Amino acid sequence: MAHILVTGAAGFIGSHTVDQLLASGHQVTGVDNFYTGKLSNLAKALMLPNFSFWELDIAVHGVFANLVAQTKPDAIIHLAALVNVQESIAKPNLNYLLNIYLTQLVAEAARMYSVKRVVFASSAAVYGNTSEFESILYESLETRPISPYGAAKLASEAILLGHSAAYGFTVRCQRYFNVYGPRQDPTSPYSGVISVFANHFKEGKEITIYGNGKQTRDFISVHDVASANVLAATGPDITSGIANICTGRSTTLLELIAVFARYYPVTPAIIYAPSRKGDIMHSLGAPFLATGALNFNAQISIDKGISELVQAL
Ligand code: UD1
Repeated sequence: MAHILVTGAAGFIGSHTVDQLLASGHQVTGVDNFYTGKLSNLAKALMLPNFSFWELDIAVHGVFANLVAQTKPDAIIHLAALVNVQESIAKPNLNYLLNIYLTQLVAEAARMYSVKRVVFASSAAVYGNTSEFESILYESLETRPISPYGAAKLASEAILLGHSAAYGFTVRCQRYFNVYGPRQDPTSPYSGVISVFANHFKEGKEITIYGNGKQTRDFISVHDVASANVLAATGPDITSGIANICTGRSTTLLELIAVFARYYPVTPAIIYAPSRKGDIMHSLGAPFLATGALNFNAQISIDKGISELVQAL
């Protein structure tokens, strides 16, 4: 069994990753400053003896290095970040601090204290605007981020892979696609569309579709994302690299609404509004590199994932 340090442990993806690591018998140290994370997300984990939690601001120089020196993890799963693209546009310096500088602090701590692996939360946002000839997003495509957030994720991949080559520890950059599931915050106007639809179905509030509803996304359950993190941090024979964490299947917004409608007697009113600025029509990931590198295959269909989400509400 390994000892894994998870940054952003109280967040949406972090808390599910912690839960799966603990369920697999690993020892876990979690750290979070509650910028967006919630202690309640760790309610189950905090009851378990092989979990320890630190409330710290690891963007302060020296704090993370001290934590690594004290806890001596085998691997770090670095999920702490500014997670909202719109916030990265409004606060680019904060985005730089949390999504680039913090990665450097993680890389440096891994080097100083001989951590064997670092797993990093990257994003499909590194691809940016793609042309109609690039309807499936392969990792080999040119990256053209269109937000400070996407640019920072791409820069962080380069920082970590450069450190991996120079110092010999393994780095896995996980390009998550559209992640959904329990504990995702539905309250911001830029919350993930599944969390918004789930909330509006439950409360009977009208749903807004930006555009014609035929746009597609590669929606992946947070449980699958957490498994990909566990595999990257603890799996055998893992070498450094980048991989999409996606399902390879696309779903339209209209299909999503049809799935939710199975669980509720009444479908809320649907309002059509103009497409959002910068919205892309289709986003579908190629899942093959993650299969080869991590032995990861997403297991949860959109039907099953939404059924679970509805029951968790
Ligand atoms: C996602 C990421 C974003 C990233 C981008 C590019 C999430 C939550 N966001 O944005 O960080 O920069 O991929 O890789 O994963 N929509 C509605 N009604 C609503 C809410 C949304 O019609 O109430 C539409 C949006 O206009 C969009 C689609 O649903 O067309 C998906 O929206 P969203 O869940 O915000 O994700 P992305 O736009 O794909």
